[in-house]
Amino acid sequence: MEKLLDNQVALITGASSGIGYGVAQALAQAGAAVVLNYHSNAEAAEKLAEEIERAGGFALAVKADVSDPAQVDSMFDACRKRFDTVDIVVANSGLQKDSAFAEMTLEDWQKVLSTNLTGQFLTTQAAVKEFRRRGPRAVSKALGKIICMSSVHEVIPWAGHVNYAASKGGIQMFMKSLAQEVAPERIRVNSIAPGAIRTPINKDAWGTQEALDKLLKLIPYGRVGEAEDIGQAAVWLASDQSDYVVGTTLFVDGGMTLYPGFADNG
Ligand code: BGC
Repeated sequence: MEKLLDNQVALITGASSGIGYGVAQALAQAGAAVVLNYHSNAEAAEKLAEEIERAGGFALAVKADVSDPAQVDSMFDACRKRFDTVDIVVANSGLQKDSAFAEMTLEDWQKVLSTNLTGQFLTTQAAVKEFRRRGPRAVSKALGKIICMSSVHEVIPWAGHVNYAASKGGIQMFMKSLAQEVAPERIRVNSIAPGAIRTPINKDAWGTQEALDKLLKLIPYGRVGEAEDIGQAAVWLASDQSDYVVGTTLFVDGGMTLYPGFADNG
């Protein structure tokens, strides 16, 4: 059976856990060969690569710190070496270093900005160069597709997380400005803005019944998201089904951005 992403190559950064892991699984199921970037959890990335290959797909795990230009370059070299090029790049790596504002260290500020924002800059810059080098391919209408992983916190302010919210607010204009610049070359750049997705990054918010009840008050749709919800959105955004979608943020958040506090208030 023909699949949406057959014969395409996708690179997913931060694929060893959480949303990146779910996106990698979904893209592989949709027929893409996947390059699974990881920062430190080699075991999880290798295991996922093996699972995908056992199911008849193609996968390669590659270590790289996305905030380091030299490592980003070698990650793209690894894509070319194994799969000749890359068609889809999901700039997903991200982390939180939360603290009250006055106590936030410069180190924690810089760590979050360098992974979440500079990491996406370096990854997508290398992607644009690779799409140009390789030229059009019959596998897709676009020259290449970039998906930036944002967050509902590109629009929802988040006390106690100013570094994270600043990085995601930055992604909003980064993505749109880049989309505007490269759209004439038929490079499609979009973002996904997940809400509360059940992953290790936010275990404190769903790990106990009490925390979960509190969290669900923020989600009109009444459930926490799963990595698969983001995976399915990524498949669509990476496929020709969304060929006319350019410079958009797709919120996948169960309605978290609908100001649920106003449902019976105001
Ligand atoms: C954060 C999570 C949080 C969610 C909703 C995400 O971007 O990484 O920790 O649960 O936004 O607030």
